[in-house]
Parts: sequence; C-alpha cells; structure tokens
Amino acid sequence: MTTERFKKLIWEYYKTHGRHALVWRTKAHFNDPYRILVSEVMLQQTQVSRVMRKYPEFIRQFPNFRSLAKASVPSVLSVWQGMGYNRRALNLKRLSEEVVERYKGRLPSEPEALRALPGIGAATAGSIAAFAFNRPVPFIETNIRRVFIHSFFPAKEGVCDEDILGMVRKTLDRENPREWYYALMDYGTMLAAEEKENPNRKSLSYRKQAAFTGSRRAVRGGILRTLLAHGPMTERSLAIWLGEPIARIREVLDILKKEKFVIRKGNVVKIAG
Ligand code: ADE
Repeated sequence: MTTERFKKLIWEYYKTHGRHALVWRTKAHFNDPYRILVSEVMLQQTQVSRVMRKYPEFIRQFPNFRSLAKASVPSVLSVWQGMGYNRRALNLKRLSEEVVERYKGRLPSEPEALRALPGIGAATAGSIAAFAFNRPVPFIETNIRRVFIHSFFPAKEGVCDEDILGMVRKTLDRENPREWYYALMDYGTMLAAEEKENPNRKSLSYRKQAAFTGSRRAVRGGILRTLLAHGPMTERSLAIWLGEPIARIREVLDILKKEKFVIRKGNVVKIAG
C-alpha cells in the first residue's frame, strides 16, 4: 500500500465512522490538558465504554491539577473504583502534585517533560502531546500498531516497533495531528472488532477469566474495594470477606503497604491517606 492511499483510506473511514462524540474529543476537553491527561491515562488500560462512564465523574470531583493534588488518597481511589489498575489513580495524584509544584499547575507540552512524570510512558506522552497540544509527535499504542501492521506489514511475523514508528512518522499529518491520531485509533478499533473469530477463542477467554479470579490483580482490587466500603479491617476478616487464604491476603497486603496504598495500625489495615 502506498502512503498516499493509506492516508486517504484512514481519512475516508474517519469521515463516516469517526467517534466524534467521545467527550474528551470535544473542544472544551481537548483545550484543557488536564482533562486530556486524565482521559488518556484512563484509556491506557480500560475500555472506552467504562471510561465514558467514569471520566465525567472524575473530572467533576477533581476538575484540575490543584484539586487532585490536594485530594486525599481514599477519595481518589473511591472515584477510581471500577476502572482497575488502581496504581494509575495514585500516579495521577502524584503527577498532579508535581505539576503544581514544578510547573505552577500547567502541564508541559514537551514529550520529554511529560515522560518524566509519574505513570507516563512513551505512548501516553505522545498521545497527550498530540491530543492536548496538537503536536505532530510520532507514537504507537495498541490500536495504532494494529493499523500499521495490517496496512504495511500484513505477511510479516514479529514486526518491531521501530519499523512501525518509521511508518507512523512517514504518514503523520503535520497540519492536523490531533485528528489524524483520532482517525488512526478509530480505524484500529474497527480492525480489532472485525478480526475473524478464532475457533479457540471461547475456551481461551474462559481460561483468561479463570486465571483472573484469585490473581494478584483480583485480590488487590478486592482488598481496596472492601476497605473503601467497610473501613478498617483485620487481615483475617478481609480473608473471610474475599474468600481467599489469609496467606494470600498477607502477600498482597505487603505489596499494597510498600506502595503506600494501605497502612497497618495494630491489628487492622486501612487505606492510607
Ligand atoms: N480518543 C482519544 N484518545 C483515545 C484513546 N486513547 N483511545 C480511544 N479513543 C481515543
């Protein structure tokens, strides 16, 4: 496929099928770097449908860097519930503190400066630079990667990100990077939905689900949810509540303590804050 044909294909698709209604793509939102940052961090690992429900509530509770910097950890985690990967919420709060202290509450637009902030990797730094500041920065994430492999490397196994990044750079719309990246992501989402059903898929997803129950991530989420809902608890009652062996609860609590999500006071554990 030529780059010209590729660009035409992506723009054409976007014209008719672009997800223009996603709230973080509207002017009031993309003109506010804080809002774009929150939406991109949420979208890293959570489905669009879930983010759509949670994002407005989060923005209402914490409308800017200062309010999130000042908020207590439990209040942030409480609004984050249902999103998964709670560490992201903690990082967002730390990041806000840093933006307030180092940048007077204004997010930098340089990808390098963004990457230095807690929880921000190359993909998120690139997406914030493009979506919040309309900067033509080459970056890759899951959907974008899928688009480029599908269009430019259809037969090749194990394409490396460096090669993909080369094509991203080559095809990047320098006049309108924000919308170009919206268009790429939308096309990538469509490709994922269109992928042919793998005959083994069903059993694979069953296995995945079984693997999740009792996994560290599941126990982690369960502990945080339970402590938020019920207040301080002993290890033992947490274990009973979650139906997990107490040794397993202890193991995960040790991690949560190290990460400063929870603290221990005498016999009980509670959310830090
Ligand atoms: N629109 C803007 N950013 C997005 C993302 N990361 N995923 C899906 N849609 C988006």
